[in-house]
Amino acid sequence: MLSYRHGFHAGNHADVLKHAILHFGHRAIIAADPRPILVVDTHAGAGLYDLKSDMGEKVAEWRSGILPLLQTSREPPELLKDWLEGVRLDGPRAYAGSPEISRRLLRAHDRMVCFELHTTDFAALSSLLCTDPRIAVVKADGLGSLPTIFPPPERHALVLIDPSYEIKTDYGQVQDALLKAYRRLSTGTFMLWYPVIDRHFTERMLGGLKESEITRQYRIEFCIEPDEARRGMTGSGMLIINPPAGLPEAVEAALPWLAQELKATGTVRAAMVKA
Ligand SMILES: C[S@@+](CC[C@H](N)C(=O)[O-])C[C@H]1O[C@@H](n2cnc3c(N)ncnc32)[C@H](O)[C@@H]1O
Repeated sequence: MLSYRHGFHAGNHADVLKHAILHFGHRAIIAADPRPILVVDTHAGAGLYDLKSDMGEKVAEWRSGILPLLQTSREPPELLKDWLEGVRLDGPRAYAGSPEISRRLLRAHDRMVCFELHTTDFAALSSLLCTDPRIAVVKADGLGSLPTIFPPPERHALVLIDPSYEIKTDYGQVQDALLKAYRRLSTGTFMLWYPVIDRHFTERMLGGLKESEITRQYRIEFCIEPDEARRGMTGSGMLIINPPAGLPEAVEAALPWLAQELKATGTVRAAMVKA
């Protein structure tokens, strides 16, 4: 049984990285290509979060994540600008998670499929999105299901893979699902999020993907603290396969600003790791 609830972590430094990149990347893809797109969110969560609820305030990770960015007087870089403006307008009682970010960017001819296994978060997400005919919310394993819906008829896709990595086998399953989906649509953009907790597991997963036939891999890492500074997550990263035009430049311009605002002292880097 799954115990992870994203509501305890929403708006933290990892969400900031992931949500800004998702928002910028999705917009860059549709700006460059007018064809209908399928968006897949393999681990969708609840969709909207009240950061000031008991759950949001329990560990209050958002107070050192999104909050400083809403309070800064410094002009945000392009990567974050429009996403942050949206977060500001929504306010902390309705912080948008990944499926809600993508929903707002869907055009009339686009589709989205969201997978979520947790009963409560699945119910919340379903009631948020079920009236939109472009969106399917499915209570199923996102990793096992991803290859089964590929290649999509659109032959154009953006996939966010954002597991909680609650179970250590997630790392191997991510690798397997990503490879299978890529083999069915090698032009798709895949955004894989990973936590920096235990380098052994992440490097093995990312190393396996690097050695595979998957090309055009761009890796971003943003660590609030150096590895081993404490137990638990000290940072996070994203592996982007087929990054859209403009995303790497925007990420590289934004990371120093973000590091300063969030007082990051760990690894902060981004580079193509495979051409
Ligand atoms: C990190 S959270 C998702 C956060 C969301 N992507 C966002 O950014 O707003 C991971 C979610 O995946 C769900 N989950 C865990 N294993 C899953 C699986 N195999 N398939 C689908 N959902 C899963 C968890 O219940 C949790 O809600």
